[in-house]
Amino acid sequence: MKRPHVLIFPFPTQGHIIPLLELSLSLASRGLALTLLTTPGNEPLLRPLLSTASSENLFIQSLILPLPPPPPPPHNETQLPIHSLPHLIYSLKGLADPLEQWLLQQKLDESSDEFGPVICIISDFFLGWTQDTATKLGIPRIVFSPSGAFAFSVISSVWKYMPHLGVESDEGEVSIPGFPHPLTLRKFQLSPLAQVYKSSDPVHEFIKYIMNLNLQSWGTLINTFYSLETPYVDHLRTVSGRPVWSVGPLLPPAVFHHKQKQEMNHQRGNPNSINEALCLQWLDGRKGRSVVYVCFGSMAILSEKQNEEIAAGLEASEVSFIWVIRDNGNAKVGLEERVKKKGLVIRGWAPQLLILSHPSVGCFVTHCGWNSTLESISLGIPMIAWPLTADQHSDALLLVEYLRVAVRLCEGPNAVPNRDMLASAVKRVVGGEGEEGLRVQELSRAAREAVKQGGSSSSNLEDTVACIRNLAPDKL
Ligand code: UDX
Repeated sequence: MKRPHVLIFPFPTQGHIIPLLELSLSLASRGLALTLLTTPGNEPLLRPLLSTASSENLFIQSLILPLPPPPPPPHNETQLPIHSLPHLIYSLKGLADPLEQWLLQQKLDESSDEFGPVICIISDFFLGWTQDTATKLGIPRIVFSPSGAFAFSVISSVWKYMPHLGVESDEGEVSIPGFPHPLTLRKFQLSPLAQVYKSSDPVHEFIKYIMNLNLQSWGTLINTFYSLETPYVDHLRTVSGRPVWSVGPLLPPAVFHHKQKQEMNHQRGNPNSINEALCLQWLDGRKGRSVVYVCFGSMAILSEKQNEEIAAGLEASEVSFIWVIRDNGNAKVGLEERVKKKGLVIRGWAPQLLILSHPSVGCFVTHCGWNSTLESISLGIPMIAWPLTADQHSDALLLVEYLRVAVRLCEGPNAVPNRDMLASAVKRVVGGEGEEGLRVQELSRAAREAVKQGGSSSSNLEDTVACIRNLAPDKL
């Protein structure tokens, strides 16, 4: 029996791939056949999902297309520093022709029992050019936003109206047009992609073009839940005039069901740099809600000075901690020795969900990446915010000012946090008895409600699948 066949195309960095793979699992378990498109450097990130799919009889296959030169492809796209982002976005457009060929070939291919022609494309907002491919071939495309609705509303407005052009200083004020309420950001708080925009630069012009193409999509899938960001989800719906399905938090169901710790962490992203059992053993030896978890996402690498202040602040707080360091030699050798009475240092990739799910964890020092944010909210952990770049400034604003589940430490990739401020923020937030802790518990309950059967995200997911099924010529 042929199933409705959807092409899923994540943007190839960890923070974008992880939630879209989670969504893929949900779509496939509702009977859709999926082809996941990625580049060779990211193929290993698909393997855990493909093996889950095969053990659960889900129909997911991969399509690996090499990045065509020029521009020169990085050898592993997931390890890119943030300044390479515009070039990665640009170079992926080189996949347009091979993708079109593949889609055309699919139409004619009768060989598969389960995978018919592709009837819908779901692709990341950094792959806005797929809208042109979809339009050309008459296939509806849904844009996927790994950012929340507040941040995506800012992003969409900035690319549409370019309100920062003419604002010289990084500190200069930029008011965001058409936002659901008055909102003024500093220029440095906007996406660096928009900040550096020059109309004379073809890469920048291309990014502006594709970000605006997203507005023409057939619908939007967004990793948030309705009660968390109601005005902003509604706003996106009004602006696009198309369906906006909030289907988050896109996390393994075990997170919401208090399942076995081991089930919590089917491999998300890179292989872990620490033995999970050792990590759990360390946490088991700590009191409930007493540990601070410090991690700045999948891309950020801090300077020696920044790491030094974090170490000093954590030591001064006298609280136990797990600190994840993405290392390029900036963090001093011997750090582990120095902090070992109170802290566990993980250099590389941590099993973040497993850690955040542990009852000993009581505070998250975070860069406010949207995945980390949703993980913390879902698990009821109050945050200390240090947004670095991308959409993280918008996320931090939402968390600190509007949702009141985080306190702010500092902001920007060059900020050096003050050790005393970090120590006092940790003492205030850890344990969860302050305002942030109580608020985040409420939001955690709301997240659980959203994903359970009949909840807003779960119903939106059913609706998405129903709409996709309706696209099939014989309504599969
Ligand atoms: C970036 C943006 O910051 C984010 O807002 C956007 O939505 C996606 O791209 P990133 O900086 O990597 O993402 O942060 P985040 O969104 O928090 O995603 C990181 C993911 O990797 C999380 O799911 C986190 O659990 C996981 N992770 C990160 C680990 O499992 N271990 C690590 O050591 C680091």
